[in-house]
Amino acid sequence: MSKISIIGAGHVGATTAFITAQKCLAEEIVLVDIVEGLPQGKGLDMFESGPVQGFSGRVRGTNDYEDIAGSSIVVMTAGIARKPGMSREDLLRTNASIVANAASHIKESCKDAIVIVVTNPLDMMTFHMWKQLGFPTERVVGQAGCLDTARYRTFIGEKLGVSSKDVSAILMGGHGDTMVPLPRYTTVAGIPLTDLMSTEDIEAIVKRARTGGGEIVSLLKTGSAYYAPAAATVEMVESIVMNQKRVLCCSCLLQGEFGWNDLYIGVPCILGKKGVEKIIELKLTPEEKALFDESAGKYKTGIEEMLAL
Ligand code: APR
Repeated sequence: MSKISIIGAGHVGATTAFITAQKCLAEEIVLVDIVEGLPQGKGLDMFESGPVQGFSGRVRGTNDYEDIAGSSIVVMTAGIARKPGMSREDLLRTNASIVANAASHIKESCKDAIVIVVTNPLDMMTFHMWKQLGFPTERVVGQAGCLDTARYRTFIGEKLGVSSKDVSAILMGGHGDTMVPLPRYTTVAGIPLTDLMSTEDIEAIVKRARTGGGEIVSLLKTGSAYYAPAAATVEMVESIVMNQKRVLCCSCLLQGEFGWNDLYIGVPCILGKKGVEKIIELKLTPEEKALFDESAGKYKTGIEEMLAL
């Protein structure tokens, strides 16, 4: 029986579960959280929408990590957001310990699972999850690029007055601020974006996509984005479950690719039933490579800081 577990039944975790159920991607979806009643209530509520929405998979919530046993995919969304007065190091330490705790249960209950990490700071938490699990690198992958790309595609579609579905793009590098745009690899139904839009307009859109998370936070005031992050996560889940072999930008462990080692960062990859089946080492111009190296250098330092905590 196909089973997908989602750790963290907060905004991103619950929305991921709901979209996964709607798309009929699993026979059973398990939501795990430490707050009593929260995953059970949300899971039951989603399950009860099945007859109306036309899905028959079971959705249930639990506080017991043992219930993830036998999952083929585990999505990690548990974590805390930075609170006022909390240092970056405190946030890193807290989320790293939540990730380590989840990893110990995943190792025990579903040692063959593919693990998708969504918890921020994304590229560092994915590295930490991989280290803690000791799984092959192709089975531990982070969600960031799919979200950044979704935002970028949305804004391009809006600006050009075309369906964002027809916008195809790849963005590399770290999640958010140090994201590396590749306009020369962006097309609209196969037409190069650079033929359709001015450099200034492209730059404005890249800037907005880079700060897309912050834009939502400033509107919401409390809390952060979750609809697009969840949809982007399900894009990865679907490619794995259906063995679609989509070319998606995900946080993957680099082992020599793009000249970097022992670092999780956003790169284009093929995602199928084995997880990350291949990293696509596309050719970068010297300018693009410089931006990628700057982003990678930042995360390499971040990982070293995390390991030193
Ligand atoms: N085990 C299981 N669940 C946990 C644990 C744990 N050890 N620690 C915290 N949680 C749960 C919380 O109880 C909460 O329900 O994780 C959930 C997080 O949900 P939200 O606070 O709503 O956060 P959300 O918006 O879903 O974001 C989750 O995804 O995009 C990233 O930056 C975001 O790191 C954050 C994560």
